[in-house]
Amino acid sequence: MSKNVIIGCDHGGLALKETLKPFIEKMGWSVTDLGTHTTDSCDYPLIAKAVCDAVLKDEGSLGILICGTGLGMSMTANRIPGIRAAVCTNEYMARMARAHNDANVLCLGERTTGPGLAQEITQVYLSAEFEGGRHLRRINLIEN
Ligand code: RB5
Repeated sequence: MSKNVIIGCDHGGLALKETLKPFIEKMGWSVTDLGTHTTDSCDYPLIAKAVCDAVLKDEGSLGILICGTGLGMSMTANRIPGIRAAVCTNEYMARMARAHNDANVLCLGERTTGPGLAQEITQVYLSAEFEGGRHLRRINLIEN
């Protein structure tokens, strides 16, 4: 199974994306970067959709989407069937996003979460495991 992180950002998340990429690779994950790659203003829904489509095609992969707040990315991602995107601003949210919600996309805000905390959130998110059981029943109820 893939141990690949598919990552994307808009101009508001570029610096944090570049900080996180080597950190994720040091954790033993490969990284697929779907942009943006410059500070030119761009539209976050386009990046969110590209990352989510790639996550759905690559079994076992996880997505990370970064914008100014993480909000626009999460709003877009959660419109896509099969995607469960979680904005996380602390490590507890990151752990629960995987353990209870089986979130397949982590959303971060570069303007709201400093790089050190964002690294810790990412580390916890990538390390935690879905607990299944009653939580599987509940996530199945989200879309049915
Ligand atoms: C861009 O200025 C900003 O609106 C965007 O990065 C994001 O925060 C939207 O949710």
